[in-house]
Amino acid sequence: MTENTKVAVVTGGASGIGAEVCRYLAKDGIDIAIWDLNEDLMAEIAAEIKAMGRRVTMAVVDVSSRESIEAGAAKTRAVLGPVTILVNSAGMHSTAPLAEIDDATWNKVMAVNLTGSYLVAQTLAPDMEAAGWGRIVFISSSSIQTGSPNMAAYIASKGGVIALTKALAVELGPKGITVNNVPPGMVVTPMLKNLEENGGLGPGGAEALGQHLPVRKAGKPENIAKAVSYLCSEEAGYVTGHTLSVNGGRYMN
Ligand SMILES: NC(=O)c1ccc[n+]([C@@H]2O[C@H](COP(=O)([O-])OP(=O)(O)OC[C@H]3O[C@@H](n4cnc5c(N)ncnc54)[C@H](O)[C@@H]3O)[C@@H](O)[C@H]2O)c1
Repeated sequence: MTENTKVAVVTGGASGIGAEVCRYLAKDGIDIAIWDLNEDLMAEIAAEIKAMGRRVTMAVVDVSSRESIEAGAAKTRAVLGPVTILVNSAGMHSTAPLAEIDDATWNKVMAVNLTGSYLVAQTLAPDMEAAGWGRIVFISSSSIQTGSPNMAAYIASKGGVIALTKALAVELGPKGITVNNVPPGMVVTPMLKNLEENGGLGPGGAEALGQHLPVRKAGKPENIAKAVSYLCSEEAGYVTGHTLSVNGGRYMN
């Protein structure tokens, strides 16, 4: 497939890791569709991508809603053509001890993080099958590798994403589509800042916690985006079903 036919959907592309993925894929010569709930932030990233000389579109999409995803896909195809790369970075966090998790929160976290991953992949895989080429990268979480207190809903949802990666890698591999996931470990983004402000990272926040890691620092969105860029490349065509940890050594596969 020639470079100028590649179109990527980046969910959660308005902020943090997703926004940096938009920048890295645009640098790789890929046209970008940003899907997110935050229209103002999306517009800012879209302007950046356009200034980089790439085609770009954006759609307000809730990844937990099939209807919303189908509308986003129709808009994206109309503007940019078929989608051959999907990076699913949209996600939500929640913290509560087991006894205090309510069903509505559990279901919402599952709907956004796990069902959302399935829905976006199911909607866009047909474009990739038609092209005989595709790349799907899910953003999971290093917390599923280490475990963590008060994060049962989040960790269970992200564990499902890793299982989904393996299931789809086997199913879609014969169609030319690779499926991988990147579990970030403590990357400084608005989501992490929010956790920090709520005291969820303990005294000193991310930077203090980072001092306990082998690399002695917290991560940056660019650390994840570069890994995603690799997994979306031609050269990564022999890598599938893989969990590519980018976590400063928090957990070693
Ligand atoms: N930052 C970290 O340390 C870290 C660690 C592990 C995993 N992650 C995962 O990385 C991904 C990106 O997180 P981030 O740190 O960049 O956070 P972030 O808050 O900066 O970005 C998340 C984006 O997802 C969007 N979003 C949330 N719910 C959505 C929905 N239902 N539909 C569409 N968009 C939605 C938000 O509007 C936001 O723009 C998430 O899946 C998160 O769970 C992050």
